[in-house]
Amino acid sequence: MLNQGRLRVSVVGGSGYAGGELLRILLGHPRVQVQQVTSNRQAGQPVTLSHPNLRGLTSLTFVRAEEIGDCDLLFLALPNGESMQSMEMWMTRAERVIDLGADFRLRSAEEWTAWYGTEHAAPHLLPHFTYGVPEISADQIRNARHVAGPGCEAIVSILCLYPLVRRGILKPDPIIIDAKMGSSQAGHAPTDASHHPERAGAVRSYKPTGHRHAAEIQQVFRNVGLPSSVCISATAVEMVRGVLVTIHGFAHQDLTEQELWRAFRSEYSGKPFVRIVKQTQGLYRYPEPKILQGTNYCEIGFEKERRSDRVVIIGAIDNLVKGTSGNGVQCMNLMCGFPETMGLEFPGLHPV
Ligand SMILES: NC(=O)c1ccc[n+]([C@@H]2O[C@H](COP(=O)([O-])OP(=O)(O)OC[C@H]3O[C@@H](n4cnc5c(N)ncnc54)[C@H](OP(=O)(O)O)[C@@H]3O)[C@@H](O)[C@H]2O)c1
Repeated sequence: MLNQGRLRVSVVGGSGYAGGELLRILLGHPRVQVQQVTSNRQAGQPVTLSHPNLRGLTSLTFVRAEEIGDCDLLFLALPNGESMQSMEMWMTRAERVIDLGADFRLRSAEEWTAWYGTEHAAPHLLPHFTYGVPEISADQIRNARHVAGPGCEAIVSILCLYPLVRRGILKPDPIIIDAKMGSSQAGHAPTDASHHPERAGAVRSYKPTGHRHAAEIQQVFRNVGLPSSVCISATAVEMVRGVLVTIHGFAHQDLTEQELWRAFRSEYSGKPFVRIVKQTQGLYRYPEPKILQGTNYCEIGFEKERRSDRVVIIGAIDNLVKGTSGNGVQCMNLMCGFPETMGLEFPGLHPV
């Protein structure tokens, strides 16, 4: 499988924002050789035309998606609804496939239709995919051939909630996630809403109800026997990268912050990319996406309301790294027997 000790990896959808971050990480990964990168729009052009930060690191040019040949592992970074159209073919190109889009995240085709409003084009392939949150399903990912990367609001929310819901500390209902999103979440294709005069300076509520990532979060809790009607309200804010979630839940009984500490510590001890942040001093007392830019870390903070049973959990990630590409590489590391942190050690920048 390995070529001179390196895994041959190709990226479909490599001109996009997730694809670009994937390439940045993969080109620095000591056990990977990037073999092919696709863009139909820019076929024949250097990869660095789309991703100038990679100048000097690669001489690859984009190929069309249909030119992808055999490789050891294939990443798909396509718009939602695209990978399902050809997944059967992609699965013949590589033994291992990691899809960063939404198409194979939900276990049932009916759920896909309920949340995404279209028929699923490959319902027979849904059982082949493992939902890729390494912190909660590392063993399944190690044994998986096909992984579906979570949505960015979903993964940060799952990491914030899982230790508390699983231990019965938080009531599974109601849980309300207030998500603040950077503009890169919407991908590289410009729209009226992303036009600079419209987007700059915005604090824009864009999905107050019915956010699709709620389906993934609910699925994770259902799988551990805790049905929950988690809901999300999403707001676009003035940043390029980053997700900040402020989650409101309610404790089952009298709860101390010590118990919250204990739950998070025991869940995430030894998990290299989760940091609990709850400082009494300094500027960065709670998680903040600004200082996580380019990193694969998820930071989690929390506070218990003194006069009620409300618990507030705060989570931050870079949507393009822990929210997509970095998490995908973390899954790749597990699937291929590499150290989990390989290629993902960047500590971030300060100031930024
Ligand atoms: N952006 C995020 O923060 C984020 C977070 C979590 C998950 N994701 C998921 O990651 C995936 C990619 O997101 P993105 O933000 O990188 O999107 P993007 O910037 O719009 O990039 C999409 C890529 O797909 C290619 N593409 C589009 N339609 C295609 C088709 N029919 N056949 C072949 N290639 C096609 C585009 O290539 P061309 O050059 O040919 O247009 C481009 O390389 C999405 O499914 C998204 O849900 C993204």
